[in-house]
Amino acid sequence: MSASIMYGKVLADKIREEIKTDVQELVQHQIKPKLSVLIIGDNPASKTYVRMKQKACEKVGIESDVIKLQSDVSEDELLKQIELLNNDRSVHGILVQLPLPEHVNEKRVLEYIDPNKDVDGFHPINVGRLSIDQDALVPCTPLGIVALLDYYNVSIEGKHAVVIGRSNIVGKPVGQLLLNRQATVTYCHSKTQNLKEITKTADILIVAVGRAELINEEYVKEGAVVVDVGNTFLETGKVVGDVAFDQVKDIASQITPVPKGVGPMTITMLLNNTIKAAKYSM
Ligand code: GUN
Repeated sequence: MSASIMYGKVLADKIREEIKTDVQELVQHQIKPKLSVLIIGDNPASKTYVRMKQKACEKVGIESDVIKLQSDVSEDELLKQIELLNNDRSVHGILVQLPLPEHVNEKRVLEYIDPNKDVDGFHPINVGRLSIDQDALVPCTPLGIVALLDYYNVSIEGKHAVVIGRSNIVGKPVGQLLLNRQATVTYCHSKTQNLKEITKTADILIVAVGRAELINEEYVKEGAVVVDVGNTFLETGKVVGDVAFDQVKDIASQITPVPKGVGPMTITMLLNNTIKAAKYSM
């Protein structure tokens, strides 16, 4: 039997409608939600992502402001810009688009952002709050993944969730969210031995490694729920995930496609985090 497909767009559209209402409510309280994005240099992918974020804000009525800095900007100048935004009461969310140029210390920059404006959820304070299951600004892709699982009625409690990938942006926080929801969580990564044996025991398999079609049907248990966070552009122009969709769909019970799966959820959750940060300012 073929898996049912968990599309992100349906849910993303629904949440974006709810966000429009949140924006109106905040405006009634004299709060106009605003996201400030800092982009350094001219990495084409970063420019595309920032444009997408700006457009998404505009569509739901969140104000956005993009501050462009030259690739040779000093770390001190970047920190000064962040401080201005930290102190600006009209700014609720601050996002520094990654990657940063080599000469800039990413850790120092991310730690400089006010944790209550940290809409990426990368500040150690938010990472810590998530790890002890406190209210936090949580990274967007992990939030989007869990929202998708909920929307498609995937039960999480007591299930074995296997996460392949241990990045700070996706792998680690999605595992923590699932653990906070009472899943039994196993992390796998590039040094994991017997990967297949572990992934074969997953009720929920989250793949976030950035390697095109790494996971085929041999890695998946019959009836598992598979979430593909990969997004690789092939030379042919085709975009594929970390999961060989055509092979895995015949064995999984539910699966996200690439594109149109997790992707549309990430920016939606950024909008959500901006609203949350705006509410913190009340
Ligand atoms: N670059 C790639 N993904 C992200 C993200 O989620 N947030 C930021 N700030 N930069 C990124």
